[in-house]
Amino acid sequence: MGELTIRPQNRGADIAAIADINAQVFDGGTPAFHRLRQSPDPDLVSLVAERDGEVLGHVFFSPVTIDSTPPVAGMGLGELAVRQHCQRQGIGAALTRAGLEALGARGCPFVIVVGVPAYYPRLGFEPGAKHGLRCQWQVPPESFMVYVLDPAAMAGVTGVARYRDV
Ligand SMILES: CC(C)(COP(=O)(O)OP(=O)(O)OC[C@H]1O[C@@H](n2cnc3c(N)ncnc32)[C@H](O)[C@@H]1OP(=O)(O)O)[C@@H](O)C(=O)NCCC(=O)NCCS
Repeated sequence: MGELTIRPQNRGADIAAIADINAQVFDGGTPAFHRLRQSPDPDLVSLVAERDGEVLGHVFFSPVTIDSTPPVAGMGLGELAVRQHCQRQGIGAALTRAGLEALGARGCPFVIVVGVPAYYPRLGFEPGAKHGLRCQWQVPPESFMVYVLDPAAMAGVTGVARYRDV
């Protein structure tokens, strides 16, 4: 078995593999996937995990703004999916960490996620409420989490986090 590589999504060539993975794990695909297909956008961050020439997983981030004064822009983890037969091999963690690292390097102060509370805390996500952040949607409080990349930029920042319409 070859090495796992995490790399940016190739907009054209990887679409079919991502669609296939999402259909497998999300019961028919996600809105984010449809956006990806229709509108290439430099603000979106989309990474794939590849091994032996096969795309095994995908993570997608899109812009989010906290309605503080002044507003603070960051990103939201929009979907994370790993092929069923490749789950529990650390691929989801590798994709998430690579995304966090890339976003941190470009000065993004935070990343939110609405997701499985049993999964994301092991990657360093904390309850949004602990940081005075709320989700734009009514979700169980423990499902709304944040990874603070730049604590100085986030000091005193509270409010509702909203995904950009894309
Ligand atoms: C969630 C998902 C992305 C994790 O990717 P992965 O590569 O399997 O995860 P990792 O190998 O990095 O981590 C595995 C650990 O996470 C746990 N885990 C995986 N999915 C989980 C879930 N949905 N709930 C709770 N724990 C989960 C596993 O139990 C495992 O822990 P263990 O080895 O200590 O038992 C993947 O299982 C998946 O695609 N699931 C379906 C789609 C989905 O639910 N996406 C997340 C939406 S928020």
